[in-house]
Amino acid sequence: MRHQSVLLRECIRYLELDPAGVYVDGTLGMGGHAEAILEHLPQGRLIGIDRDGQALEYAAGRLARFGRRATLVRGNFGDLGKILDELGIGKVNGMLFDLGVSSPQLDDKERGFSYMQDAPLDMRMDEQSPLTAREVLNTWSEAELRSIFWRYGEERYAGRIAEAVTAAREEAPIETTGQFVEIIRRTMPAAALREKQHPAKRCFQAVRIAVNDELGALERMLDTAPDRLVTGGRMLVISFHSLEDRMVKEAIRKRENGCTCPPEFPVCTCGFVKTLRSVTRKPVIPDGEELAENPRARSARLRIAERV
Ligand SMILES: C[S@@+](CC[C@H](N)C(=O)[O-])C[C@H]1O[C@@H](n2cnc3c(N)ncnc32)[C@H](O)[C@@H]1O
Ligand SMILES: [Zn+2]
Repeated sequence: MRHQSVLLRECIRYLELDPAGVYVDGTLGMGGHAEAILEHLPQGRLIGIDRDGQALEYAAGRLARFGRRATLVRGNFGDLGKILDELGIGKVNGMLFDLGVSSPQLDDKERGFSYMQDAPLDMRMDEQSPLTAREVLNTWSEAELRSIFWRYGEERYAGRIAEAVTAAREEAPIETTGQFVEIIRRTMPAAALREKQHPAKRCFQAVRIAVNDELGALERMLDTAPDRLVTGGRMLVISFHSLEDRMVKEAIRKRENGCTCPPEFPVCTCGFVKTLRSVTRKPVIPDGEELAENPRARSARLRIAERV
């Protein structure tokens, strides 16, 4: 198993690690970022969270040499507040969230994330979660499917594909990633099939986001994380598609500008207090060297906010 950590040097630089601080890695994965963070924390501590049991197991081995300075938790970063409460931790010195799927998740055929390999339709990051891609494609209504293909995949042919999926499952349940790819291929116009992007890429992203409630988790995290940072503490979020990046950007902007209530309101009802400051004007993106080495880094955008 291998996963090249995206924007690793940049993350370490922007976290401005306090050698005795407490940090959260909310998307532990293979533990690449976590390991680099721990190497800079001779007296500090790292809380590593992932919802994927396999990832956690792998990271535990990789981080074993740090002993009790690494605390690993199986959970959803959307529950960050609860996770920190349970550990008896109030505020932390910094946080990192490296969103999206890890290479082992993509490469392990059996997990059904990839449109390149035929496998059972699964796509769960948390192997214990009840909702699978199979369930979504075979039980969600045509309208719901159209909506996720359109909103989460920005798929132009969302309507046609949703229709084709519901027609196909009338015949027999859709069981494999290969069958889903075939339905998409059959439905898209020939010109669209010749585009550079794989024709199934957008719908696979959409189903994955739905299966894992990725935007819901991100929203809950963005709502709670700023209040768990000490003054001067930083929150770093790496996103891999525009939907996520827009949510992160908006969440920071709202907390940077503060209250948006009309001036005649006697009290604030919007609840946006000035809690964050954007550290860089633009998102940080990988340099040419990293892009040459790691194609997965291509769409990565790192946003950094500091608690004020
Ligand atoms: C891109 S990988 C992280 C790679 C890691 N930074 C490294 O260097 O090895 C993203 C990880 O986040 C996990 N993940 C995604 N959404 C999550 C959520 N809401 N809660 C917890 N973990 C999540 C996935 O299971 C995956 O292992
Ligand atoms: Zn207000």
